[in-house]
Amino acid sequence: MTPDAILEVRELSKRFGGVHALEGVECIVPEGQVFAVIGPNGAGKTTFFNCLTGVTRPTTGSIRFQNRPLAGLPSHRIAEAGIARTWQTIRLFEHMTVLENVLVGCHTRGSTGFPGAILRLPSQRREERRLREAAMNHLQRLEIAHLAHRPVSSLPFLQQRRVELARALAAEPKLLLLDEPAAGLNTRETGQLGELILSIREQGLTVLLVEHDMSLVMEISDQVLVLDHGVPIAEGPPRQIQENEKVIAIYLGSEAL
Ligand SMILES: Nc1ncnc2c1ncn2[C@@H]1O[C@H](COP(=O)(O)OP(=O)(O)O)[C@@H](O)[C@H]1O
Ligand SMILES: [Mg+2]
Repeated sequence: MTPDAILEVRELSKRFGGVHALEGVECIVPEGQVFAVIGPNGAGKTTFFNCLTGVTRPTTGSIRFQNRPLAGLPSHRIAEAGIARTWQTIRLFEHMTVLENVLVGCHTRGSTGFPGAILRLPSQRREERRLREAAMNHLQRLEIAHLAHRPVSSLPFLQQRRVELARALAAEPKLLLLDEPAAGLNTRETGQLGELILSIREQGLTVLLVEHDMSLVMEISDQVLVLDHGVPIAEGPPRQIQENEKVIAIYLGSEAL
């Protein structure tokens, strides 16, 4: 594996019947970067995330995370290995509170086993307290600590997005996958999200970002991979991507770049 690479993807393909959702996708993601994956609707971006998180089994190809092969592992093993994600469409437990949702994210980090949980040993109670404190810290960081005991269903969209992000961070991942996190946000909110993503990177996490908001992508990404109909057509730093003719051609008319 290339030095400093946290994720290395080779010849990744995924077919759904006759649809080639991904075809020969390759990338090397250096640790500590914001690495964006862009492309028109249907380009395969979500499928790429699904392959990385074990939601979908790749048809062919290899995925190495921190020098260990990932392809074919179930989702929970991949989460334990240190990959967390948010979803293009928010997926929260609506009737649970904000804090409860974030505690769900913490569970991969819990260390007390089944006997401890059943017997409610002191070690188990200490563990619970530690997880609650960690969850509250994540809520504070996302400025939603005051909403901790509200049911998620009672919150506006922006706050729900923040809960999702807090839950992903609570798993203490090394690699965070964000699937269109700015969708539905206004310009000011998108700016705040950008700052938050950069602060997450500063703490040493690597971020994989799927996003349609090109100004956000160009502002905060170190590297950009462009997919079109599942095929990688360009990769490089934002400025180079903005000037790439193939990329301009697929976005022509959308005024996205
Ligand atoms: N579970 C699935 N079954 C069949 N086709 C799928 C499935 N998931 C995605 N696809 C197809 O794969 C292609 C890529 O989809 P997707 O990864 O969602 O693209 P993007 O996220 O870039 O918009 C599309 O043609 C889509 O219809
Ligand atoms: Mg998608």
